[in-house]
Amino acid sequence: MGVSESGVSGPRRRLVMGNWKMHGNLAGNAALLAGLRAGVDSVGNCEVAVCSPFPYLAQVQSILQGSAISWGAQDLSVHAQGAYTGEVSGAMLGDFACRWVLAGHSERRALHGETDQLVADKAAAALAAGLVPVVCVGETLDEQEAGRTDEVIARQLAPVLALGAQAVGQIVLAYEPVWAIGTGRTATPDQAQEVHAGIRALLSALGVPGVRVLYGGSVKAANAASLFAMPDIDGALVGGASLVAEEFLRIAAA
Ligand code: 13P
Repeated sequence: MGVSESGVSGPRRRLVMGNWKMHGNLAGNAALLAGLRAGVDSVGNCEVAVCSPFPYLAQVQSILQGSAISWGAQDLSVHAQGAYTGEVSGAMLGDFACRWVLAGHSERRALHGETDQLVADKAAAALAAGLVPVVCVGETLDEQEAGRTDEVIARQLAPVLALGAQAVGQIVLAYEPVWAIGTGRTATPDQAQEVHAGIRALLSALGVPGVRVLYGGSVKAANAASLFAMPDIDGALVGGASLVAEEFLRIAAA
């Protein structure tokens, strides 16, 4: 933090964001959110956020408003409104005071056919609605084993970077190697740093080296500190471990 690798100064405040995925219920969320609210003041200078399923955004808002924790959703439509059954617009997320929205999580790409271009379009739609998109990229195990990580990340990022420096300067990126998600198999800090440095180089080339790049994939309290010690890892996007207040706060405090 402080001065980035490129020498352009600008602090990148650490961000630890929970992605609840399709987990939760009203009673369980209430307990989790109360635990987060009660403990967040002890995590130091780390921004903490949660991304809940759509139906719980009102609950998340009512419990977290006035706290240091911000919130968001896990997906949004590229459309502003209209006959798009089942979709949720950025403006609707804004109605629940969302600050963040994930775009292009690997589960959306793999299970819902989201293309690189669609993900960039979603990032643009989020910005247009006043939200901060957290654009997720990452290679599969096959791609990693074939030595294609850099090429895959560059391809996924290309349409996002094409939005231009003004837009990209407002987003957050998350590197989540698909082989590390929910598998207990985390990238080593060096492995992650190498990819993050490559992403930082692309950002620097665009003139926005200060964009935060989170790491995601089996992040836990036990491995968070070693990941956060890397110069280009600006925080974490946390799945499973974000569902337990104490564990998630320990990651934020790491
Ligand atoms: P896990 O932390 O459960 O591996 O999930 C990572 C993830 O996909 C966060 O978006």
